[in-house]
Amino acid sequence: MKSILVLLTISPLLLAQPPAAKPKVEGPWMDKSLSPDKRADLVIAQMTLAEKIQMVHGIGWGALRPGSAVPPGSNEGAGFVPAIERLGIPAINLADSAVGVRMSAVESRYGTLLPSTLAAAASFDPDAAYLYGSVIGRELRAQGFNMSIGGGVDLVREPRNGRNFEYAGEDPVLAGIMVGQLMKGLQAQQVMGDIKHYALNDQETGRGILNAIMDKRTMRETDLLAFQIAIKLAQPAGVMCSYNKVNGDYACENDYLLNQVLKKEWNFQGWVLSDWGGTHSTNKAALAGLDQEMPGDRFFGVPLEKAVDSREIPEARLNDMVHRILRSMFACGVIDNPPVRTVVDPFQGRDDAQHIAQESIVLLKNESALLPLNAARVESIALIGSHADVAVLSGGGSAQVDPPGGDPVTHHQGVSPWMHPVWFPSSPMKYIRAHAPHAAVEYNDGSDPASAAKLAQVSQVAIVFVNQYMSEARDARTLALPDNQDALVSAVAAANPNTIVVIESGGPVTMPWIGEVKGVLEAWYPGIGGAQALSAILFGEVNPSAKLPVTFAKSDADLPHPQVTGIDLKPAGHPPAFDVNYTEGLKVGYKWFEAEHKEPLFPFGYGLSYTTFAYSGLRPDGAAHTVSFTVKNTGKRAGTEVAQVYAMLPAAAGEPFKRLVAWQRVSLEPGESKAVTLAVDPLYLSIYDTEKDGWQLLAGDYQAMVGPLTSAFHIAQ
Ligand code: BGC
Repeated sequence: MKSILVLLTISPLLLAQPPAAKPKVEGPWMDKSLSPDKRADLVIAQMTLAEKIQMVHGIGWGALRPGSAVPPGSNEGAGFVPAIERLGIPAINLADSAVGVRMSAVESRYGTLLPSTLAAAASFDPDAAYLYGSVIGRELRAQGFNMSIGGGVDLVREPRNGRNFEYAGEDPVLAGIMVGQLMKGLQAQQVMGDIKHYALNDQETGRGILNAIMDKRTMRETDLLAFQIAIKLAQPAGVMCSYNKVNGDYACENDYLLNQVLKKEWNFQGWVLSDWGGTHSTNKAALAGLDQEMPGDRFFGVPLEKAVDSREIPEARLNDMVHRILRSMFACGVIDNPPVRTVVDPFQGRDDAQHIAQESIVLLKNESALLPLNAARVESIALIGSHADVAVLSGGGSAQVDPPGGDPVTHHQGVSPWMHPVWFPSSPMKYIRAHAPHAAVEYNDGSDPASAAKLAQVSQVAIVFVNQYMSEARDARTLALPDNQDALVSAVAAANPNTIVVIESGGPVTMPWIGEVKGVLEAWYPGIGGAQALSAILFGEVNPSAKLPVTFAKSDADLPHPQVTGIDLKPAGHPPAFDVNYTEGLKVGYKWFEAEHKEPLFPFGYGLSYTTFAYSGLRPDGAAHTVSFTVKNTGKRAGTEVAQVYAMLPAAAGEPFKRLVAWQRVSLEPGESKAVTLAVDPLYLSIYDTEKDGWQLLAGDYQAMVGPLTSAFHIAQ
């Protein structure tokens, strides 16, 4: 030992040298007692024009484009803004991380696949959403990233939109609160968050060329309200503007969206970054409120520098862009407490993902109380379809997470393929077998309905897994399940009276076989703990509590647009620009079904439990903006009810449908009752008055609804 010590003291050059510590920058902006805004201003006072320009555009894609050069300092995520080392300002390393950190495998890293964001919204649990964000933030930090690009909060206005699994449902209050909580949890890990895609990127078909047409009141009460709520809750560092046009102007150069609403009215302090390649101009975009071109320098590189030199763009505007970025870096702690690379904890990630999945899986049908299955009694289970022997499905596009150890179905390893289904090693069969050790559990891949039916016929219970793969850049043509899976379910159900269907989907699907099966579980894309969560619910270890964050229609014909607008435009890849006219206006999701008197297959907010609940004593208070009631567990199992409060506005509002205005998860033992009082934010009861250009809480008679109860209340002038 002594000789080693001697060696260490006398021959340090023989040892590997640690990287030279970067000289510590001691500018006054490093004083943590100053406000983020003050600190940003102190930095800006020292910056050259070139440094400012460097900050307002990124270098893109990192390793996303195989063979492309990776700039020094890049962590190889989807975006990178180089450091300004002389001032102690670190690089911004951004990673796609909607449902987990993307592109981990290729970097020899690990990223937990969470249930889809839509699944998390089904939990109606703000704490689960916060946890969701914490997992992403924790793993981004561990991987060396200091900014997330996730936080999708576009409304599910078009149920066939390929990215609905990245969003939080059709209701602006639910979506806004859940994504706001998610972003809060993420930013609490000292990683900058972003909320996207602002705005009206409600379908993928033609997203780069379409012009979304929507009147102001509709925008403010629906799609924009979700952003407003999420931004207020989380104060995210970034807002990503979307590819599409909104009422004639690209979202990334839309003065109304960026300057007037986001920055002025909502007082958003962070910066606006364009979706990748979504910047279309220099002067128009800069003056409309875009703060950063991502990625590339086509508009916010030399052209912006020239525009500032020639005073077409005031230098104050450039300073404002830089200020917004720097103040967010200080506010989120990425300068004072930069990420330290470490090993992601996959077990913690899986446990968290499983917890969220257990709160996200919706029990849609349970005839004759077939579920939960009795592990002691069940002797044989036929497990059919969707690779349920080895895997669960994930969503595609920039939200794609890499399966650890490769895809157990396709055996693909490394960068996950774009727009091809990617399966995760979470085996429903393994956990079903673990729950029912005495049962014979046999698998049939479902490719031949007749052979699947044969297995079902000789089994006590048949569980058919069906799936709908969804991805960025493409919408589904229909809500119907693809690949003949409806016929598979019908064939199995005809062979076995105890058929349960488990759906892994990006959003709502149709179920022509609903009358033929006894049980249905909507599992969404359930994440890396999906198999454990599903079997815990199938066998009653967990009592389901989730509720639908989207309406399930009986058919495409019942939707506001029987087809996704533009889906048939030719040529397929490069159709001419087109308008998407959202003529349904305020009637999004359940509001459409109610106002149009259409009966859905399953309504928004619907979901069963293994116990039953009763409501009593509904008392809304129009002056205090509260709603009180009592919930009782009237069944034999402990369970959690998501008590949802809806309001119907006075007739003068012209809104012939209810709105979700508050909710709470209430956990109850059998026979237990709880009195609940919920505050209702007056904003959620208000309408957007376009004449006054502001929100208005109308005086008049309202109705409050919870469970089966309705009660009138009055709001005075
Ligand atoms: C997507 C964004 C994503 C970006 C970077 C775009 O195609 O719309 O959501 O963050 O790519 O990968």
